[in-house]
Formats: sequence, structure tokens, C-alpha cells
Amino acid sequence: MTDALTYSSHQQQISDNPSIYFKKQNQHNENHENPRTLRELIEYLYEAFSTDMVDLDYLHTIMTNYKSSPKDWQQYAKFKQDRYTRNLVDGGNGKFNLMLLCWSEGQGSSIHDHTNSHCFMKCLDGKLVETRYEWPTEDDQQEDDKKEKPMKLKYQSDLNYNDVLYINDSLGLHRVENPSHTDKCVTLHLYIPPYHQCHTFDERTGKQGQVVVTFYSKYGQILEKETPAL
Ligand SMILES: [Fe+2]
Repeated sequence: MTDALTYSSHQQQISDNPSIYFKKQNQHNENHENPRTLRELIEYLYEAFSTDMVDLDYLHTIMTNYKSSPKDWQQYAKFKQDRYTRNLVDGGNGKFNLMLLCWSEGQGSSIHDHTNSHCFMKCLDGKLVETRYEWPTEDDQQEDDKKEKPMKLKYQSDLNYNDVLYINDSLGLHRVENPSHTDKCVTLHLYIPPYHQCHTFDERTGKQGQVVVTFYSKYGQILEKETPAL
């Protein structure tokens, strides 16, 4: 599923984020488009982020071409009964990080933004549903207007096994959920650059809050206390 892969507004995003610059013309090694393992995908990511110029199309290609194999990632897959978990796989080189999110049956996120980062998300196991929303407008947020204004739905789509989706703030907000009552779900997330807090939104009113995002485990080890995703 690549319908959300739209680069038209990236130049603005890029200039807002001075540590990383994106280019459309590839300079990557064309032999490095088909990672056979998660470890190889990580090697290609380090290569791609070795300069300040990164090609988003290339990142999408390697995230798509890597085919999920549980033996690659099961050491990082840590589930909790009460909520989904975020599990750091690789801290990157300051320009990106890579993590596994583990969704038990019926678990989902709140509606959230991505703190001006770029997010690629790949389904490694099970299936997720993404619901995408418009940003609330200033009109929606008028305090003297007591009427509740629900957030505007853009679309809903499935993220199936091995699918990759892309989102950044210019493409809207989203909620992701494991719709299954019988199966767990595992997703692989590439964030560029890493971030440790984001905004959440109330679907009924568009009202926003700020949350610190945390890791449940790092490098396969459950942490004694969840720590901010720095
Ligand atoms: Fe997200």
C-alpha cells in the first residue's frame, strides 16, 4: 500500500528540519535495494544516513523490499496486556531510529502527530488499520464555541503483512489499531529524525495534548522503567 507516499510537500518539511536534507536523486548503491534480513536493512539504513542527504524513495524501497521473517525480529517483540509497546531495535546515528511496535489483540494508538518527523511503518505480522484525519483548524478550536467539532476523517486503510505506509505532519494525523480479537500484530517503524514527544488529539473535539513517548524495551531487553524515547 503506497497511496500515502506523497512527496510534494517535503521541501517545506525538510527546510523545517535543518539536521537532515532530502534529495530526489539517488546516490545509493543500487546493489543495496533488497535487504535479505533485518540486520541487512539496518546496514543499508546506516549507509543511507551516512551523509546529510537522504532519498525518501530509497528508504521506502528498502523498507518494502525487506520481507518479514520472525527469526529476524522476534527477540525485540515484547507485548503487554494493557497497551501496545514501543521497543527500540536500533538507535541510528542521531538522524533516525528503528523500533518494533507490538500490538496485542484489539490494542490501538490515540490520534497523534509526528513532531515534524518522517515516519515509515511496515507490517511484520498480523494486520493494522490506519485511520487518517485532517488537522483541526483554528476555527475548530475557537474556545467560545461550545459546540463539539469532531475531527475530519480523511480515509481508513489496512496495513497488511509486509505493507509499508508513510506519514509526516503535512499528510495529516492518524490512529493505528490492531482490529483482531485473536491475533497479535507487529510493526517496524523508521522515524527520521527520532522524537520523544508528540501531540495526541481527541476525536470528538480535536482538542490536543502533549505526551512523552517511551520505550518498553531496548535492544531486546525489557527496561525496569519505561524511558522517554530519546
Ligand atoms: Fe504514527
